[in-house]
Amino acid sequence: MCRSYFKIQSCNSRGGTLTEVSSETRFLHAIEMGLGAMQWGDRAIWQYGRGYGLEDVRQAFQAALANGIQYVDTAELYGNGLSERSLGRFLRESDQPVLVSTKFFPWPWRFTRGALPRALKGSLARIGIESVDLYQIHWPSPVMTTDSLMDGLTECIKAGYTRTVGVSNFGHARMLAAYSALARNGIQLASNQVHYSLLSREVEKNGILARCKELGIRMIAYCPLERGMLTGKYTPENPPPGRRTSKYAPILAKIQPLIKLMTQMGQDHGGKSCAQVALNWVICKGALPIPGAKNAFQAEQNAGALGWRLTDEEVARLDFASHAIVEPTMTAH
Ligand SMILES: NC(=O)c1ccc[n+]([C@@H]2O[C@H](COP(=O)([O-])OP(=O)(O)OC[C@H]3O[C@@H](n4cnc5c(N)ncnc54)[C@H](OP(=O)(O)O)[C@@H]3O)[C@@H](O)[C@H]2O)c1
Repeated sequence: MCRSYFKIQSCNSRGGTLTEVSSETRFLHAIEMGLGAMQWGDRAIWQYGRGYGLEDVRQAFQAALANGIQYVDTAELYGNGLSERSLGRFLRESDQPVLVSTKFFPWPWRFTRGALPRALKGSLARIGIESVDLYQIHWPSPVMTTDSLMDGLTECIKAGYTRTVGVSNFGHARMLAAYSALARNGIQLASNQVHYSLLSREVEKNGILARCKELGIRMIAYCPLERGMLTGKYTPENPPPGRRTSKYAPILAKIQPLIKLMTQMGQDHGGKSCAQVALNWVICKGALPIPGAKNAFQAEQNAGALGWRLTDEEVARLDFASHAIVEPTMTAH
């Protein structure tokens, strides 16, 4: 398999870095923001079925599309397949083209490369489509080597089940190993999906963000709203419900100065919300945020992060304000 590589200017990166991007993965660099679909069935963190359900997430999907979002990220793990099945329903109800990514979960009983095309076939059946645009390894496998995972992804491309392949939660060294293993098969590593927000900036320090730009790997940012904390709606008096309480309650007082700054900046940009400022910051850093949304209001508001930009000076001020919180309190995911 021989693939053509050419130089493009990444539309989202500041500083004029030239990146090498294959023609197959180029579309990912043109997407500014997507929609995360973990909420569409997950009970453990998001309490699907309590306070929101299928009709709400259907409206989230429709509102996102109506407001210019054309890319949805799901995984076989989310809601045990329910997120993929719901996405399939919504796609059939819509006449708009949507780019889709899903993920392979490396259960310990999946230990051969053949497990990947088999798992992807299952995802395709649940979504009801013939191929996805991006297939990702959700986490490094406890039993499979990076080489055999990449060989499995290569089989998925050869079978026509996916256009491009990526990884998620891969550290710097493992990401480079994945990049090289795929390159030996004539394929470019399209993406690394990692935790990245104003409150989780490990990828800036461990070199992943810079290396992704250098190698033309799209860095996809999950939890860009830090699971709702950066919307400004949670305070020490009003902590998030469920499992998020224990992780985030201790920092809610500390993040209030940052929230105040974001609120002010949003006002300076004609009434943008904290969530929109948080997502815009991720875009300005050269990553692709995929905020999750439980309903139409959230999806519509998040889409309002597009069409404008924070200034370099504002990004620097947000960096500075978040630094004081991130350093002492948050650890790498
Ligand atoms: N690869 C991985 O390991 C991995 C891990 C996690 C997530 N992901 C992906 O990344 C996506 C995004 O991450 P995430 O969903 O965990 O976190 P997130 O996008 O940071 O936060 C989403 C949550 O924030 C709240 N919210 C969203 N928009 C809002 C708005 N405009 N106003 C007020 N509240 C709002 C909602 O929760 P409440 O209303 O309940 O507060 C929503 O469920 C996921 O859907 C999934 O596709 C991948």
